[in-house]
Amino acid sequence: MKTRVGVLISGRGSNMEALIEASRAPDCPYEIVLVLSNKSDAGGLETARAAGIEARAVDQKDFFRDREGHERALDAALRGAGVEVIALAGYMRVLTPFLVKAWEGRMMNIHPSLLPLFPGLDTHNRVIAAGHAEHGCTVHLVTVGVDEGPVVAQARVPVLPGDDAQSLSERVLVAEHQLYPKALSDFCRKLAAA
Ligand code: GRF
Repeated sequence: MKTRVGVLISGRGSNMEALIEASRAPDCPYEIVLVLSNKSDAGGLETARAAGIEARAVDQKDFFRDREGHERALDAALRGAGVEVIALAGYMRVLTPFLVKAWEGRMMNIHPSLLPLFPGLDTHNRVIAAGHAEHGCTVHLVTVGVDEGPVVAQARVPVLPGDDAQSLSERVLVAEHQLYPKALSDFCRKLAAA
């Protein structure tokens, strides 16, 4: 039995696409059963549908400032689809303790830096401004502290002379697309064996 994964996105969903592609391998230990977005116009929703995966928006606008109400709707959709593990993939809204605690140990995120360095936004510019020679991405478990959960896997890329945030982000993104499917697969294999 493959682990049933739900993916949360906010935008283009290229990491989600990498997770979907890897899930096509017969020996992949997970299947993606649902993609949800907090924004109706997220381009990744169409990409997921084109891949034959149920995808819908639970738009945060419909919940006004009720963040937990929004997350309760996400949670209900995920449980309704029999999701066992959540993969955040460019989900750009900080979660409340409600959803984090409900899925503790079963929710992962990918972040574009070598955590604990550079949590938060705008990581590529900040790495360049700090003069670091190395950058990368991290898959981690989600805890209440933003970008603070236990590290599951990391990939490193060099910062090259002349890099700007765009060129650096493109290099990191290639690494993200390789790292996330592998980290999620390893995680699901361990979960199934436990
Ligand atoms: C990625 O860099 C991810 O690490 C970050 O936001 C970006 C999302 O890109 N959290 P995509 O939507 O997966 O293409």
